[in-house]
Amino acid sequence: MYYPDELVEEVRTRNDIVDVISGYVKMQKKGSNYFGLCPFHSEKSPSFSVSASKQMYYCFGCGAGGNVFTFLMEYENYSFQEAIQFLAQRAGVALPEREDSAQARERDNKRAELLKVCKEAAKYFYYQLRAGTGAGGYAYLRGRELSDETIHKFGLGFANMTSDDLTRYLKSKGYGDKLIQEAGLAAFDEKYGLHDKFWNRVMFPIQDSNNRVIGFGGRVMGDGKPKYLNSPETPIFDKSRNLYGLNFARSSRAGNFILCEGYMDVIAMHQAGFTQAVASLGTAFTAGQANLLRRFTQEVILAYDSDGAGVNAALRAIGILKEAGLTGKVLNLEPYKDPDEFMKNQGAQAFQERIGQAENSFFFELRMLERDYDLKDPESKTRFYRQIAQKLCGFSEEVERENYIEAVAQKYHIGFENLRRLVRSYASQTGEAAPAPRPKSGLQKKRDPAQNRKKPQKLLLTWLVEEPSLYRKIKQYISPEDFTEDLYRKAAEKLFEDLEKEIINPAGIISLFTDGEQQREVAELFNTKLEELSTRTEKERAFHDVLLGVKRGSFEALRERAGGDVSALGRMIESKKQLEELSKTHISLN
Ligand code: UTP
Ligand code: MN
Repeated sequence: MYYPDELVEEVRTRNDIVDVISGYVKMQKKGSNYFGLCPFHSEKSPSFSVSASKQMYYCFGCGAGGNVFTFLMEYENYSFQEAIQFLAQRAGVALPEREDSAQARERDNKRAELLKVCKEAAKYFYYQLRAGTGAGGYAYLRGRELSDETIHKFGLGFANMTSDDLTRYLKSKGYGDKLIQEAGLAAFDEKYGLHDKFWNRVMFPIQDSNNRVIGFGGRVMGDGKPKYLNSPETPIFDKSRNLYGLNFARSSRAGNFILCEGYMDVIAMHQAGFTQAVASLGTAFTAGQANLLRRFTQEVILAYDSDGAGVNAALRAIGILKEAGLTGKVLNLEPYKDPDEFMKNQGAQAFQERIGQAENSFFFELRMLERDYDLKDPESKTRFYRQIAQKLCGFSEEVERENYIEAVAQKYHIGFENLRRLVRSYASQTGEAAPAPRPKSGLQKKRDPAQNRKKPQKLLLTWLVEEPSLYRKIKQYISPEDFTEDLYRKAAEKLFEDLEKEIINPAGIISLFTDGEQQREVAELFNTKLEELSTRTEKERAFHDVLLGVKRGSFEALRERAGGDVSALGRMIESKKQLEELSKTHISLN
């Protein structure tokens, strides 16, 4: 961290979170909190809450949360440092020159320079498309049925035939050779010297979710190879954490996102009014992108190519979406190859109908699986059913699993009870809590022990923030070491330290973490939904369960880690003793 903690705290406390967020989100006071429509996902009734007393925000719909810094990092795509600078200025707090971190300053400067040169290049390409030399590019795009408005909206451009005119232009604007290369816009070789990376291509500037150009894709006009040339990864262009079209899609109110494969698909869909379309950036869909999407939506509809490669990519994406807790559906575009072609031939209304018919991703997986079996052969059919049963074990939640068993039984004409028994037998073979191993195509997330441990830890932290007086009663049983996740432990350490001094400052704890994703996770720790319990006995029992859960998790983690290590044995025995003692102790909540 480049600024001292006290200064970060000062900046934070001088910027009331309600004031700041009010500038972005319309909110209403309800009880002690403010509520509004979440700016990070689309919703119709407000689940975004801001607490003046905690100085935190949290969305019960999408899980976005944090303190005033986190909000600006998420909303404005600021880095932690940028958020501090912005708020310091807003509140008139003077920040020292950051002489302590020349390296960090250099990194920030570099990023700013790269953004500038990319923007300049985008402007240049844009201008070329409209100049005489770009006539071919313009004709190509119009030939693909893009309107002038669409071409303008996506900032499409053209890279000329000459192999160094962009480089020359940028240099004339004062940009150095090194920067131009680092931005991925030019390369150096002995023979040609410094020359443009892109030439004779139509250019698709790639923007981050805040409309800043971070890279380019360039398409040949015809059948040359490679079809698309993309900028390399640079300090501002992280292909696994950005999505093409997200800058527009983030404010679409469609209620879902459409994920497709190609730039052209995204553009065609936006042109047809489907402004919720995004695509990955010439690479496979990643978990980082799924997390990004989770900020804006709960449901992702896959509109991948209908060929074999597209199906495989879709199967992989389904696994990744599930891991991220998103609902996936699959669009059937047949007989067309991709959304762009579909749109051209059938139009927006037909596309909307296909969205309505999008297939549940589990059934899609089964349908694709089915192709490997011959259902006329009893042997093969049996193997197929076994596979289905095994996949069904992947649903860790009882109700969900039962619902799927029912639906699958109906669809494939298997007796419900038979299928259920088959699923049970698989579940028991592998242990109810840890069903079948995960095949490559990506089954849903299993109930893994680490996951189970997290819940009570989160609940306990939230509980302590809500009722700090409980701390006195639990500190003899629970210590920060009992928190098995690194991040949770760090948060617990600080929280316990504060509580010891009778301070309660969750928003301050959040800014100990500089990464936006971590801040969000910490915010979630302090905002877990506590059950509404009416009687004291109920509450005491629930609280006791939470404590036991934390302690048990800690003991199990110790046991796993100990393996044959004798030195760890002492701690384990100690922990076991505490666990037993705690299970017998009554902790009263008054
Ligand atoms: P497609 O070949 O489906 O491209 O590749 P497309 O967007 O539909 O393009 P058109 O309609 O043929 O013009 C899907 C995506 O894969 C990446 C690009 O991101 C492309 O949009 N890709 C494809 C590359 O990066 N390089 C390539 O050579 C081909
Ligand atoms: Mn295409």
